[in-house]
Amino acid sequence: MIKKAEFLISNTDYRKCPPAGKPEFAFIGRSNVGKSSLINMLTQSRHLAKTSGTPGKTQLINHFIIDDRWYMVDLPGYGFAKVGKKLKAEWEEMIKNYLSHRENLLATFVLIDSRLDPQKNDLEFIRWCAENGIPIVLAFTKADKLSRSKVQGNVSKFLQATLEIFKEAPLYFITSAEKQTGREELLAFILENNQEFYKKD
Ligand code: GTP
Ligand code: MG
Repeated sequence: MIKKAEFLISNTDYRKCPPAGKPEFAFIGRSNVGKSSLINMLTQSRHLAKTSGTPGKTQLINHFIIDDRWYMVDLPGYGFAKVGKKLKAEWEEMIKNYLSHRENLLATFVLIDSRLDPQKNDLEFIRWCAENGIPIVLAFTKADKLSRSKVQGNVSKFLQATLEIFKEAPLYFITSAEKQTGREELLAFILENNQEFYKKD
């Protein structure tokens, strides 16, 4: 489904991002939730996006070009306490500026750790997206780390919590970078959106 995936450029400023003529999908979520790992899983490449066991690995807006046709964007995590207040505020501003100014951004995947109960900072971030008209899709990560029924339970709790923000719960995918879970479904969603984008030309 993906033939070619290449790293393009890293930025701190949304105005320096590549030309916005191609559809784009961003990956965001708490530090260490598995954004970079999910990008590697989707593109079937081990080292395209840099991953680490230590939170705070991704620090820039990283553009990847897929099949010369669409962009995937790896973003730094939010809610990472160890980087210090000033840097945290700078990252947050960089991310929010990027998300609110990038007109070709068709959807932002908000990654949620499937092992956890609903977390306040995830819900706050999603609320900010809703208030700013940024379309989101949820991707629950690390589903290999617990039983299917426990994942389903945590997903249900999280979807329930989003009803404080949305009338209807957002679209979601259950994923594991380890086991390749959710790959086909997630890519099918992206490719459908890409077709719509190019139809409008
Ligand atoms: P930052 O860039 O620091 O914000 O982190 P990130 O969200 O990009 O996380 P990253 O992909 O670097 O993964 C963090 C850690 O979680 C690494 O040790 C990964 O191996 C592990 N991890 C990511 N996805 C999965 C998964 O689906 N299953 C399991 N078991 N581990 C995962
Ligand atoms: Mg990362």
